[in-house]
Amino acid sequence: MKKEWFHGKNVLDIGCNRGHITYAIARLFSPKSIVGIDIDKKIVSMANKDLHLHLESGIIEESAKFRLERAAKLRLEGVSIYSEDRQHFPLSEYISEGPISVHNTQSQAATADPDSGLRIFPNNIVFVEHNYVPANDQLVAKQRDYFDTVVCLSVTKWIHLNYRDEGLKRFFKRIYKHLRPGGLLVLEAQPFDNYGRRKKLSDRLRANYYSIQFKPDEFDAYLLSEQIGFRQIIHESITEHECDGFKRPLKVFLK
Ligand SMILES: C[S@@+](CC[C@H](N)C(=O)[O-])C[C@H]1O[C@@H](n2cnc3c(N)ncnc32)[C@H](O)[C@@H]1O
Repeated sequence: MKKEWFHGKNVLDIGCNRGHITYAIARLFSPKSIVGIDIDKKIVSMANKDLHLHLESGIIEESAKFRLERAAKLRLEGVSIYSEDRQHFPLSEYISEGPISVHNTQSQAATADPDSGLRIFPNNIVFVEHNYVPANDQLVAKQRDYFDTVVCLSVTKWIHLNYRDEGLKRFFKRIYKHLRPGGLLVLEAQPFDNYGRRKKLSDRLRANYYSIQFKPDEFDAYLLSEQIGFRQIIHESITEHECDGFKRPLKVFLK
């Protein structure tokens, strides 16, 4: 990944799981903010606990001390750190099916780099439980643009198996609408031969698997078509790794 895709930007990481990649981006590339979302409540709670640990560990940057001290104070007072932290990094619309956006707060100055004005890791991260697949087209239409970069790594297979072709298309439409003009989608879509191994999970997933007509090798054309509207693919690469499972194909689409 390239720093310029993230530096100083508002980033959304869809299907962040425990947040390892969210953390890496937040730490290495200094986004203005990064929101990691995942449908799995337990996973989001673990990611939040990790965030808590980062705040408590001595390895975080000097300037994040402010937050650490504040968290410690709150702990002494018996106040929940999570709810307090939301005031540092609030979500304006914290709802399950609709738009998500993040606003700056007064406290940003206290946790920001004095030269760049950017929040410093880990103050630039928040994790939220959220199903990114809109329930219907009306909800897609309501989505306002907010993010500069959307990251979607190893998630499309799960969306596809759970919500079929229509759900995945709605998912892509929402991503497009959620991005500002000039925004980027950093996408790693699993190939179709990777779906089959999981099709035995349940009868529903098997039925969905056999219903699929919109194959991953058609995603590029679809994303670049008038149905979605991305202008071009500006980057393509495959991670170098000895193990096939970690050779992850990455594409970046420009809105
Ligand atoms: C294979 S993991 C990918 C984790 C991470 N992006 C990575 O590349 O390492 C897929 C994640 O997508 C999440 N997910 C599946 N469906 C989702 C949905 N509808 N909305 C949000 N997250 C979803 C799963 O809970 C899971 O954590």
